[in-house]
Amino acid sequence: MSDDARSVVSGPEGEEIDVATIGEDVGLFEALRTARAIRRLRPDPVAPELIRKVCEAGTFAPSGGNRQPWIFVAVTEPERRAWVAERYRPVFHDYIAPAFEAAREGGLSEARVRNMKAALYLADHLHEAPVHLFVAGWKRRGAEQTQALFPAIQNMLLACRAIGLGVSLTTLHKSFGRECDAYLGLSEKTPTCALLPIGWPLGRFGKPPRDSVDEKLFFERYEAPEG
Ligand SMILES: Cc1cc2nc3c(=O)[nH]c(=O)nc-3n(C[C@H](O)[C@H](O)[C@H](O)COP(=O)(O)O)c2cc1C
Repeated sequence: MSDDARSVVSGPEGEEIDVATIGEDVGLFEALRTARAIRRLRPDPVAPELIRKVCEAGTFAPSGGNRQPWIFVAVTEPERRAWVAERYRPVFHDYIAPAFEAAREGGLSEARVRNMKAALYLADHLHEAPVHLFVAGWKRRGAEQTQALFPAIQNMLLACRAIGLGVSLTTLHKSFGRECDAYLGLSEKTPTCALLPIGWPLGRFGKPPRDSVDEKLFFERYEAPEG
């Protein structure tokens, strides 16, 4: 796909979307305050042109020496998404089981349990997410350049928010990372770092629950809380 790609594509209701202008009017601070993880997604397809726009946002991220180590692989074919989902689901169930055990014993906040349930929903419905967008990257001197990929990933999350696409950041596929990378045509030199399931949202964007910045910001010296 090139800059000559279609400029008008279909949205989830068949409405026309202008690829060049969609999301361009969303304020940066508005987007970053409301880009919560959206894990309930419609199965309707997302035009490749919009995925290209999301990835292009990723390419404007900084990277060491401007080496731009990122590689994006968008998996859209249903049987290929099912392949990923079949492996992600049991890994996630094993990962989250102790937390649900703690929740049953009343040890977790309501917000935390809501978050866990949403993540579980994603694990059980991953095959329905119309795009599995993997972010991979070139290793440097044998080491994964994760720190160079996360700025790109954050740009991509914000681009999805601006366009109106639901997305969440996941990494648990790394448990079957080598097998997954081989399936995607990636070698040991270019491992995946994250999987972004993308689709039109069922839920709404909104401000995620966060502690106040005033509990996190210190000038000159950190002051540890008492106790
Ligand atoms: C490094 C990293 C790895 C993550 N891995 C997963 C994952 O494997 N599965 C998942 O559902 N969410 C994953 N998340 C998403 C977090 O759970 C999510 O950002 C957090 O719950 C806050 O969500 P909120 O922004 O909607 O409040 C990951 C987030 C980060 C930063």
